[in-house]
Amino acid sequence: MVLGGLFEANGYHPAAWLMPGAQDGAATDIGYFRRIVQTAERGKLDFFFLADTPAARTEDLDAWTRAPLYMNMMEPITLLSAIAGATSHIGLGATASTSFYEPYNVARLFASLDHISHGRAAWNVVTTANDYAARNFGLDALPPHQRRYDRAGEFLGIVQALWDTWEDDAFIHDKANVRMFDPGKFHALDHQGEFFRVRGGLNMARSPQGQPVIFQAGASETGREFAARTAEVVFGTGASMSEAIAFHQDLKGRMARYGRHPDALKVLSGVSIVLGESAAHAREKWAAWQEMVHIDIGLMYLKTDLETDLSDLPLDEAVPEHRIPEKSNFHQVYFEEIAGLIRQGLTLRQVCRRYNRSKAIFYGTARQIADQMEEWVAAGASDGFMMALPVLPDSLTDITEKVVPELQRRGLFRTEYQGTTLRENLGLARPRNRHAPAG
Ligand SMILES: Cc1cc2nc3c(=O)[nH]c(=O)nc-3n(C[C@H](O)[C@H](O)[C@H](O)COP(=O)(O)O)c2cc1C
Repeated sequence: MVLGGLFEANGYHPAAWLMPGAQDGAATDIGYFRRIVQTAERGKLDFFFLADTPAARTEDLDAWTRAPLYMNMMEPITLLSAIAGATSHIGLGATASTSFYEPYNVARLFASLDHISHGRAAWNVVTTANDYAARNFGLDALPPHQRRYDRAGEFLGIVQALWDTWEDDAFIHDKANVRMFDPGKFHALDHQGEFFRVRGGLNMARSPQGQPVIFQAGASETGREFAARTAEVVFGTGASMSEAIAFHQDLKGRMARYGRHPDALKVLSGVSIVLGESAAHAREKWAAWQEMVHIDIGLMYLKTDLETDLSDLPLDEAVPEHRIPEKSNFHQVYFEEIAGLIRQGLTLRQVCRRYNRSKAIFYGTARQIADQMEEWVAAGASDGFMMALPVLPDSLTDITEKVVPELQRRGLFRTEYQGTTLRENLGLARPRNRHAPAG
C-alpha cells in the first residue's frame, strides 16, 4: 500500500502545539523539519506532504491565537528544496494554488524541485478555498467554484506542456561541435486560452521524473472530474469505509472517459492514526486532545468550513438546522460533514468536538491499526493512506516504529524503497515527452 504523511509543524491537531513534546518555533526551524522527514524516510513512507494556503488570517485573530492554522509557516516548495538534500528516497509534495500563481512560475518551481531532489517532486494542484488568499492577490473574494476549476484545468495543461519544453535528450553537450543542445528538441509553447497567454519555453532541462507527480484532493463533482482526467494521486475523503469505497469507485470509474487506466491513479484515504495500548485507550487519548482545543477555535473551524458564524448559539443546545447555509463555495466535503453533524441533532459543543475535516480516525494498537488498513485496502476503499499526523513527533514515531513494522511483517508495505524517484516508488509510469518520436 501507499503511505503518505500530511505534516504541519507540531502536527495537524489544533491542540498539537500545546503538548509537552511540541517544539516551540518548529514552524520556521529547518533543522526540525529535516529530522522529521528523515524519521519518515526511515519508516519508508512514500512521501512527505505539505498543505498550503498563501495567506494569514486577518480577522478573528483573538480566536486564531488559540491554534495557529496557517499563521506561521514557511513557503512549502522552498522548504522542500531545503529538505531534499537531507533525504534520498522519500517523495516531497507540496500545494501550489492555480488561483494565485502563474503557470510559468509553478512549472519552473516544481521542475527545479524535481532536479534538486533527483526525481521526488509532487505538486498538489488546488484551487484554494479561502478569501484571505484572494485578498492578497488583488481580489475581494474567491471567484466561484466552477470558475476556479476552469482556470485550474487550463493552468495544469500549460504547466505540463512547459515541462515538455525539452525532450529528455535535448542537451547533448557536444563540445567538439560546439553545440550545447539540439534545437530540434526544444519545443516552445504558444498558448492562448481563456485565462492565460503563454508563448515561450521552460529554461530548464526536462526533470528526472519527466513530469513531477500530480496530486489532487478535489471532492466536489467538478473536482472529481478534474482528478479523473489529470491526477496521479488523490487524497480521498470519506470518514467511513463505505464512503471511501464509494469515492474510490466513483473516481476510478470516471477515468475510462479520458482513456486512462485505473492503475494510473492512486486513491489515498485521509486518515488520522491514534495509537494506544488498546482501542479504548487510543480513543481516550483523542478525546483528551479534543478537550484541549479551545472552544473559540472549534467555533472558528465551523465558521470557516460551514461558511457561517454559529458563535451566537448556546454551546450545549442542538444547532437549529436552518442555520446551515444553502450552499458552500469553499470546501464542499467539509461543509457537508458539519451539516451532517448538525442534522444528527448534536449540540454546538459536540459538533465542535466531533468535526475532523473529513478524515477517518483509526484507533488502537499497531496490530489493530494495521488490521483496519488491511481491511480498507482489501475492500477496495483505497490504494493506501494519506496519514494526517495529529501530534508530532509522537504520531510519526508511532507509525514508523510500530505500525510500519506490523505492515511489513504482513507483506503489505515495502521494507526497502523500490527506486529512487517518487514515480518508481508509487509504481507510476514516467510520462513520455509529447514531442518525442513514438517507440
Ligand atoms: C489531504 C488533503 C490536503 C489538502 N491540501 C490542501 C491545501 O494544501 N490547500 C488547499 O487550498 N486545499 C487543500 N485541500 C482541499 C482540496 O484541495 C479541495 O479544495 C477540497 O477537498 C474541496 O474540494 P472541491 O474544491 O472539489 O470542493 C486538501 C484536502 C485534503 C483532503
